Amino acid sequence: MFQSTCYHDASPGDPSHSDPSHSDPSHPDRSHPHRPLHVAIVMDGNGRWAEHRGLPRSAGHRAGSRAVRRTVKAAVAQGVSIPIRTLTLYAFSSDNWGRPAAEVGALMRLFLHHIRTEAARCERQGVRVSVIGRRDRLGSDLRAAIESIEARTLQGKALHLQIAIDYSARGAILEAVGLHGGLEGPSREDFAALLARALHAPAPVPDVDLLVRTGGELRLSDFMLWECAYAELVFTPCLWPDFGSEALAHALEEFRGRTRRFGCLPLSGPPTTVANPALAEHAPNAQGRREVGTHV
Ligand code: FPP
Repeated sequence: MFQSTCYHDASPGDPSHSDPSHSDPSHPDRSHPHRPLHVAIVMDGNGRWAEHRGLPRSAGHRAGSRAVRRTVKAAVAQGVSIPIRTLTLYAFSSDNWGRPAAEVGALMRLFLHHIRTEAARCERQGVRVSVIGRRDRLGSDLRAAIESIEARTLQGKALHLQIAIDYSARGAILEAVGLHGGLEGPSREDFAALLARALHAPAPVPDVDLLVRTGGELRLSDFMLWECAYAELVFTPCLWPDFGSEALAHALEEFRGRTRRFGCLPLSGPPTTVANPALAEHAPNAQGRREVGTHV
């Protein structure tokens, strides 16, 4: 059964509040509204960065891979004050196969090189690396490098880095529906687990708290459509190769200035427990607002 929770302003991190996301990854983590536990980034602008410098697009992608390294390091460092548990980077959409063969080839070689050369650094930094998306269309050498870095960094606790390659949110949703196969819809928990299988993710992908897109475009481009249900969106004109710790800090600052409501209302009183959302429709609080909680 779906329950939603409204939190009063005074104690967003109050341990007495239950944390539905701990047991159900399809719930946003509403117990930490000021902490973006899952940050996802659409890394856009490599091509323009290169064009501005009279360089080939592949040079923009290489500069983009240096920005990946900087951003992962910054996310680990940010974790000292505000732990980001998961960082998901959109590296290659399933629609990117439609780019010229030379660019696709350059990107695949770059992913292979980056994954091979970053494995030791990630292991040292405590970064667990997973690649999400389809694997069957990737080269065997890239698949082997992915399996190797995933195994090597499995114990990393500082950050879970997910790199989305051959990723399509719609494609994954359709595949998850196919895996389910039943006539009756699955629960959210079951669906999140099916989605993880469709994406080759090691566990259900947690809801995105903060989605950043660089490069100035204002769209989602088939990225994390299920997980972004209540994500805060930050769009920046910064081109991806220029991104790093400062730009990440700005995005986190903007996130902290947002009031997260998850479809409810920010209230000052304690949340009321109404197990059945249908009943909640008829259970206004003293201010005439509706509250639904998971607390007992
Ligand atoms: C979009 O910019 C970027 C991509 C399609 C590739 C992203 C790849 C990297 C950042 C390189 C390295 C990544 C890893 C994980 C090693 P664009 O080329 O569409 O830029 P444009 O909009 O300016 O043309």
